[in-house]
Amino acid sequence: MPLMSLPRPKKLIRPLVHGLHAYVPGEQPKIKGLIKLNTNENPYPPSPKVLRAVTAAVDGRLRLYPNPTAETLRAKLAKLHGCAPENIIVGNGSDEVLALAVRCFVEPKPPENESWKLEAGGDLTHTTVQYFTPSYSLYPVLAEIHGAAKNAVPLNADFSMPSVAELRQGKLWRFDAALNLVTTPNAPSGRGYKTNELEKLCRAQNGVVVLDEAYVDFANENALQLALKLPHVLVARTFSKAYSLCFQRVGYFVGHAELIAALDKIRDSYNVNGLGQIAAEATLDDLEFYRANFKKIIATRETLARALTKLGFRALPSQTNFMLAKPPLFPAEQWLEKLRAKKILVRWFSAPAVRDYLRITIGTEAEARALVKAIGEVMREKLV
Ligand SMILES: Cc1ncc(COP(=O)(O)O)c(C=O)c1O
Repeated sequence: MPLMSLPRPKKLIRPLVHGLHAYVPGEQPKIKGLIKLNTNENPYPPSPKVLRAVTAAVDGRLRLYPNPTAETLRAKLAKLHGCAPENIIVGNGSDEVLALAVRCFVEPKPPENESWKLEAGGDLTHTTVQYFTPSYSLYPVLAEIHGAAKNAVPLNADFSMPSVAELRQGKLWRFDAALNLVTTPNAPSGRGYKTNELEKLCRAQNGVVVLDEAYVDFANENALQLALKLPHVLVARTFSKAYSLCFQRVGYFVGHAELIAALDKIRDSYNVNGLGQIAAEATLDDLEFYRANFKKIIATRETLARALTKLGFRALPSQTNFMLAKPPLFPAEQWLEKLRAKKILVRWFSAPAVRDYLRITIGTEAEARALVKAIGEVMREKLV
């Protein structure tokens, strides 16, 4: 009898998946005593009330499924933002709602051999995810996973956003892309954008616009009102950064009820874990605690910027809990290693627009002082 041959795993995987480059998250090292300024986490723990609420929920209830629609959390968020719960969808971090948007609003590209369909009257723009560069490096990965087309358009050299007139002139930006993802304030530059310039951009677009406000609590203004007044605009928020809850994975969109209902159809039934819902609800009951932390982080950011400038760095103005700073003496990539040798971890990106910079998360005041001290030491070591 001939031996039955079993399938080879490689053959079972879609060609698209074979070709994918996965998102690279910031390093989570386990070295003791390391100062971790590389992933824009909040240096302060959640409020004591949040910790108590989560601890109290760790009991026999863990055997039950969580609320499938994050009902209580959505009601609290609706109250906070002055909208209805139907205007809100919660996800497993804002990463999940961003992925849902790609799946909900963008057609995958047809297979190569069917591209004639596009030429024969099909609409390529339905397949396009558009974003500025540099911005959140997850966006191209989400487009690739979905088999969508990508359109990456450079920001201005100072990381400001080109005006609508400039975008028209430049001819790279598409006003009919199916989905536009805008990081505001921008990451990794930290640059903030004015609501009126965002509104002009949104009004010029035919597709959905997501304003990804992951860092907006550290900024001078937010554009949430645009999600409530324009039917094609979604604002993404997260509990990760400003609310010290990266571990719990809770993020959400605010937007038109029809868009939210469509997203709701395609999410997993229990996409937000129960402890995450409880932590986020308790967070919303203690916002004063967090507002005090924002003030501290912003003050540390400004003090650090001045200290780095004195040391010869070019610290870019930031509206976030991190900053880009261009170091003197050595290339930024070497600074990354020199600071790591002193047990301080920052982030460096190889993309041409930012490769001369370090991205530094704003930690506690003590961590900022330790960073400045370490930089001073590196500079003195260079001189001897
Ligand atoms: C711009 C931006 N958006 C969204 C996220 C995702 O946040 P989370 O999935 O933790 O809510 C991040 C995380 O780094 C980010 O930088």
